[in-house]
Order: sequence, then structure tokens, then C-alpha cells
Amino acid sequence: MSYENILTAFENNVTIITINRPTKLNALNRATIKELHKAFKAADEDQKTKVIIITGSGEKAFVAGADISEFADFSVSQGEKLAAEGQALLFDFVAHLSTPVIAAVNGFALGGGLELAMAAHFRIASDNAKMGLPEVSLGVIPGYGGTQRLPQLVGKGRALEIIMTAGMVDASQALQYGLVNHVTTPEELLPLATKLASKITNNSSVAIAAAIAAVNAGYEDGENGFDEEITQFGKCFGTADFQEGTQAFLQKRKAKFPGK
Ligand code: COA
Repeated sequence: MSYENILTAFENNVTIITINRPTKLNALNRATIKELHKAFKAADEDQKTKVIIITGSGEKAFVAGADISEFADFSVSQGEKLAAEGQALLFDFVAHLSTPVIAAVNGFALGGGLELAMAAHFRIASDNAKMGLPEVSLGVIPGYGGTQRLPQLVGKGRALEIIMTAGMVDASQALQYGLVNHVTTPEELLPLATKLASKITNNSSVAIAAAIAAVNAGYEDGENGFDEEITQFGKCFGTADFQEGTQAFLQKRKAKFPGK
């Protein structure tokens, strides 16, 4: 599939999706959000893709936010629709994919950019990264899940400080807060992301999907994460991956998971 605003590449069971609007600091306009939806969906449905990495092109930005030029004159109902559609198409969609998603944050991750990184299953950053939710400086609030995912990741007090000050957190502070798992140089960012991805691809993709579902359930309204864990745990026993994983252990060999 060819896209206007994003690039995709596939190697060693990993699909890398790169947001490619560097002159606009990879700001998320509607067209880019739609393309990202398609690319994430295609990668998730592709049996060969075991991990998805999302990053931004250029050295300056992961994503500098939702495209402000597109919503500057929106009404109340248009604003509500923008958030609802964006969450459904991209942010919630990514968070609930059964294929693991790693965000490689390579510069500014602001507003919708940080929200996209937070929708990924975990994040790593380059040491020049700067993260924040500056929406209140525009007279609006984060609308792509930021008010929920930031407190989940860093705690309520830190999240509200970041949101209310509209300030930016640098990579080392993000690491200290647990917002990102690792920080490295810009040159080493994608190599580190692919190294982490390759560790994941050695494991059962079916079990990983079950783990994502169980972890996510703990953050969903009206769902009980412990109950979901029991259900997913039980389901694993019916998979070919479980047969292979346990047999390989008992036979003292490396497992070759069929992914079923
Ligand atoms: N939406 C639309 N365009 C954006 C954008 C956004 N969120 N962020 C950056 N851009 C565009 C700029 O308008 C500029 O376009 P132009 O060259 O056609 O004028 C281009 O990207 C480069 O940005 P610029 O502001 O010149 O770069 P900078 O290095 O001086 O500043 C930032 C970088 C990230 C600090 C600054 O671009 C910024 O504050 N962006 C908005 C961040 C934000 O509020 N995001 C939340 C949106 S809800």
C-alpha cells in the first residue's frame, strides 16, 4: 500500500511505521490519522509482523501534535467529533492491537504526539526528545486519551503538573517518571527499538496478545483485570504455541512458535 504522509518498512518480522511530514514536524492531520489507521491495521493483520515500531521522520520531531491548522475554527460538536473519531481510529485502536507496538520517540512528542506514544504498548526515546501536553496553552485539553493515559503512566500529580503547566519533560525526566523505558542517542534509537522488538519476536505472539488484553483490561471501566487474566491464561492452554513452548522446554531446545 502506498501512503502520502507515512512510510512503512518490513524486516525480520517487524513493521516500522514512520510519520513523514517533517516540514510540519509530523503534525497529525486527519489524512495522516487515517493512513496510520490503515497501516496499523494492515500490520496487525499481517501474520509475519510480530512487532510494530512507530516513529517520526527527521531529527526534530516524533509528532508535534494534532495539526492545529485543521481545528482552529471548529465548533463544540466538531471538537467532540474530532476527539471521538481520533480515539477510535488511532489512539484506542493502537492501544488495543494484539501486535505489540513500540514508540521510538525521536524528538518533540507534544499533544497528539505524546498521546500516540502513550497509546503504544511502551516507549523508548532519544536523548533529544521533549514530551508534553501543551493543549491548555491553546485553550483546549488533550483529546486523544492524554488525560487518562498520562496519569496511568506517571501518576496523577505529575500528569496534572505536565498538563497544567503545558511544559515539556526532557528524556531523562521522562525516564525517571517511567514515561519512557529507555533513553539512547538519536543514532541508536531505531537499533534499540529493533533489538527490543527482536527479543519480543522470539516469544509466543499468541501469549503476548493475551498478555496485552489482560493488562489493558485492568485499565478499562467495568472490566476486572484479574478476571481477564484468568480467562486469557486458560485460553493459552488451548494454543499450539503453548504445546510448542512447554515441549521445547522439556526437550531442552529453543521453541519455534507457530503463532497459533
Ligand atoms: N500543527 C500544525 N503545524 C505544526 C504543528 C502542529 N501541532 N507543530 C509544528 N507545526 C508546523 C509549524 O507551523 C511550522 O510550519 P511552517 O514552517 O509552515 O510555519 C513547522 O511545523 C515547523 O514548526 P516551528 O514552530 O517553526 O518549529 P520550532 O522549532 O520553532 O518549534 C515546536 C517547535 C514544537 C516548539 C512548535 O512547533 C510548537 O509549539 N508546535 C505546536 C505544539 C503543540 O501545541 N501541540 C499540541 C497541539 S494540540
